[in-house]
Amino acid sequence: MSALTIALPKGRMADESLTWLRRAGWSPPRSVDDRKLVIPSIDGSLNYLLVKPMDTPVFVEQGAADIGIAGLDAVRERAADVYEPLLLPFGHCRLSVAAPADRPEHPLRLEISPRVATKYPRLAEQYFRGRGVSAEFIYLNGSVELGPLVDLADLIVDVVQTGETLRANNLVELREIMPSQAVLIVNRASYRLHAHIIQPLLRALQAVL
Ligand code: PRP
Repeated sequence: MSALTIALPKGRMADESLTWLRRAGWSPPRSVDDRKLVIPSIDGSLNYLLVKPMDTPVFVEQGAADIGIAGLDAVRERAADVYEPLLLPFGHCRLSVAAPADRPEHPLRLEISPRVATKYPRLAEQYFRGRGVSAEFIYLNGSVELGPLVDLADLIVDVVQTGETLRANNLVELREIMPSQAVLIVNRASYRLHAHIIQPLLRALQAVL
């Protein structure tokens, strides 16, 4: 029987993901080395992939991983067609619209077509279109808060956790688009094919949550 493959997000959610899986008795990775991207578990029953958080849903939807841990924000942005059997108690944040604190009129008014810098083009577009605001979207892969500071954008749509990054860059939150947290996701075909392995893993995780 080949090992199941688990996609784990690198970065902020990595440590807590591993902590919860360990608590649930899932065999942990043999080592966690940022450069090695495929790591077998100690007992050989699992293979861990370390991937960028935004890519976890893609690995799982396409079946390159059977199971993954992702932020709900990433699952929705990628519009991933996966099972979401368990919400996990970490990675809480929100996807919000923010603007410069010192700009007197805020640019969410209908008559303005704001330039919006974001790592979340799909969710941002949905949000503005849903409100009848025509906006221009500028895709950035990180440091989105720079957008308004260098006049690349009027607004940003980005994840806010503590709010520190917004404050440090003199930005204020205008609207929350969606709350987010970590979620366990499962490939739909794997869930059926490997139900006898996946279901006990999910039950063990649910028991410690
Ligand atoms: C995320 C997000 C914000 C920041 C918010 O960036 O894009 O920049 O965290 O967190 P805070 O509210 O606690 O300050 P991340 O650190 O993932 O890096 P990035 O800028 O490269 O996307």
